[in-house]
Amino acid sequence: MDKFIIRGGNPLQGTIRVSGAKNSALPCMAAAILTEDEIILENIPDVRDIETERKLLASMGAEVDLGYGRAHHRTRIRCASLSDPVARYEIVKTMRASSLVLGPLLARTGMARVAMPGGCAIGGRPIDLHIKGLQAMGAEITQDHGYLEARAQRLKGARIVFDKITVTGTEDLLMAATLAEGETLMENCAREPEVSDLAALLVAMGAKIEGAGTSTIRIHGVERLHGARHRIYPDRIEAGTFLVAGAISGGDLTVAGCNPAHLSALICKLDEAGARCEIAADSIRVRCGGSLRAADISTEEYPGFPTDMQAQYMALATQADGVSQITENIFENRFMHVQELARMGANIRVDGRTATVRGKTPLSSAAVMASDLRASASLVLAALVADGETIVDRVYHIDRGYERIEEKLRGVGAQIRRIGNVFPQKQAVEPITA
Ligand code: UD1
Repeated sequence: MDKFIIRGGNPLQGTIRVSGAKNSALPCMAAAILTEDEIILENIPDVRDIETERKLLASMGAEVDLGYGRAHHRTRIRCASLSDPVARYEIVKTMRASSLVLGPLLARTGMARVAMPGGCAIGGRPIDLHIKGLQAMGAEITQDHGYLEARAQRLKGARIVFDKITVTGTEDLLMAATLAEGETLMENCAREPEVSDLAALLVAMGAKIEGAGTSTIRIHGVERLHGARHRIYPDRIEAGTFLVAGAISGGDLTVAGCNPAHLSALICKLDEAGARCEIAADSIRVRCGGSLRAADISTEEYPGFPTDMQAQYMALATQADGVSQITENIFENRFMHVQELARMGANIRVDGRTATVRGKTPLSSAAVMASDLRASASLVLAALVADGETIVDRVYHIDRGYERIEEKLRGVGAQIRRIGNVFPQKQAVEPITA
């Protein structure tokens, strides 16, 4: 199993470039199921979840060409025939976003068999709202042996009001509705940029959609969708992680190739905490010469503060003077990083959904364990300012969603190297550079 060895103390300086958004790429790859034509996606990140999605689509009979036309970040997908419309547990258990294939499979083939995702490190994560929406569109759904089986001759447009805002739920039903008969009106939808990104691809494929990016989306179903080419948005969570890296390390870092409009909630908090952000058209420069101040955060659906940035922000809060209250409203169990940060010297008390961080505490190196994708990013950030050499174990979690994070951070002055059975293959054991 790979590990990172990180020596703290270097302020990050220079320019770091953001990859395509994993959370846009996954639904966009699933959208290829909706047509027998070719879908070309640009700016696909080279991360493990994308390889998992490739396997998932290929297991159903799709042709998936990652790195198509020798372009590293381009993907070609063709679902000419889907001989086996099944998402097996072996794949679903490693990537919960696999349930995104439920709606498109049902809409295209009239049948889908998808393993139930079960629990995960950050909470229960049910898919009951996906199921309820598909039932409202006329699907018959049964459950046996840990699988959901959905059937429908042709889905019918419906009025769907989500009981709770769900990102992949909105995306799943949006895809299903594109091929349904008649009009679907979805209310209380997720407004995340990834929903708009998916909708842009669907429109390029011939779908009729109004209101994506707002809480009400109207879809006029069409008979068939065709091939398209689409460029994936930059990853706002990777960009946010780098902004925190620049601020926590007391550096001067330009995060390039991002969309600053997608990062407003984080930028406001960084300003409040004393890091200065200069915004340009597609980059943000973060500088932090002096000390950081405590600032409270409370996670919310977009455009609020993202739950996917909570763990990274907590690492920053350990280095801010004063008391920061961090409230997690989206997932019930998303404080797995707290114990590991505490092992490095952080002073954090958790009471229900709120963590109280008292800073500034010096962090010291330790062997720590990554428990999920964003928790592992927070440990890397803490290690950047810890005294001595931190070992972050189980970095396969970080490889799910960050493209070569150690190479990118090393490029701006961090002392980080990977050891173990390297992923991707070409990476070898590298010495720590000063
Ligand atoms: C997506 C993101 C994930 C992010 C999360 C919240 C992808 C691939 N993943 O996950 O990175 O952390 O949004 O921004 O885009 N819920 C239900 N029933 C459902 C669906 C969800 O109760 O049918 C609940 C969940 O348990 C959770 C909340 O709704 O408490 C939000 O979850 P949701 O937005 O669905 O998260 P994901 O789409 O899985």
